[in-house]
Amino acid sequence: MSLRAAGIQAFGDEVALLELPEPPPLETGQVVIEVKAAGVANWDEFVRTGDWDVGRVPPLALGVEAAGEVVDVGPGVEWPAAGAPVMTHPLPLPYQGCWAERLVAPARLVAEKPDNASWAEAGAFPVPALTSEQVVAEVLDVQPGETILVNGAGGVTGGMIVELAANSGATVIATASESSAARVMALGADVVIDYHDPDWTSLARDAARSTGIRAAANAAPGGEADALSTLVDGGRLATITGAPPPEERGISIANVYIRPDGDELRLLAASLAEGKLHIDIRASYPLTRAADGLAQATKGSGGAVVFEP
Ligand SMILES: NC(=O)c1ccc[n+]([C@@H]2O[C@H](COP(=O)([O-])OP(=O)(O)OC[C@H]3O[C@@H](n4cnc5c(N)ncnc54)[C@H](OP(=O)(O)O)[C@@H]3O)[C@@H](O)[C@H]2O)c1
Repeated sequence: MSLRAAGIQAFGDEVALLELPEPPPLETGQVVIEVKAAGVANWDEFVRTGDWDVGRVPPLALGVEAAGEVVDVGPGVEWPAAGAPVMTHPLPLPYQGCWAERLVAPARLVAEKPDNASWAEAGAFPVPALTSEQVVAEVLDVQPGETILVNGAGGVTGGMIVELAANSGATVIATASESSAARVMALGADVVIDYHDPDWTSLARDAARSTGIRAAANAAPGGEADALSTLVDGGRLATITGAPPPEERGISIANVYIRPDGDELRLLAASLAEGKLHIDIRASYPLTRAADGLAQATKGSGGAVVFEP
């Protein structure tokens, strides 16, 4: 038997259907998940080109997040049991990526899928949710009453950063296109500024005139320096798209990379279940149309893209 997947034979290849060998016998602490939905996003492009090391070389199924049903458990696994609906960001990959009929994950990086989340929502949730939590709670340590700028709030991850910061009691100044503004307000932003306005950084500083912007999260590719420029002296910037050149104003700059974390994912799954976090799905593709799905995921936003094998 073989495993149908979407991925690459060599770094840089276009994504295509692959027939991979079935996973080897499970090691201690591993589970097999039958994939119902797997997230597709522009970070998968970095895996395709070899710029993001996911712990394996081609031939490689891409995909770093998924939801599905546990179908086999290895030695020493107390939870989850076979039949459990789960989601995961299983890096480094124990076997292959998530754009496949089945995947192998360490049980410690698995969280239960909330009943009220669809497979697609759960499959596209782990990466944006973990990244956003790490930006808001760990790196920026956003405090109630503080004013935070979220640059790139129209994106899936940017939107979750807005939601988590608003849930923390912060005042959120967000940037988004006109077409995304209503959604970003609904996620909890207090002010939304169109980043196409050449003066948007001054508008953001004006909007925070009484307190100044002490914390900024940048989720806009190329928006790092602009986000930095909105901060007061001594402020702090967390960026998930690369670091800007430093400024001599006592500003701390953190170039944040997602950290896989099952405990954190389980807490975030509870927030999804309680309606404190949201994820919109804009498109779903079968694995046979993987190249189309990846192309759409790397263009624009308004929601996440998934593969449903
Ligand atoms: N370092 C990490 O660990 C990590 C983790 C997750 C994501 N990321 C990266 O973070 C970025 C955002 O992720 P995402 O999931 O939010 O992506 P996404 O859903 O594809 O978001 C794209 C959105 O970004 C907005 N945008 C584009 N250019 C902008 C600009 N110059 N200024 C402000 N907003 C702009 C647009 O929003 P409008 O609709 O409002 O125009 C666009 O729809 C991606 O580059 C991704 O690779 C990094």
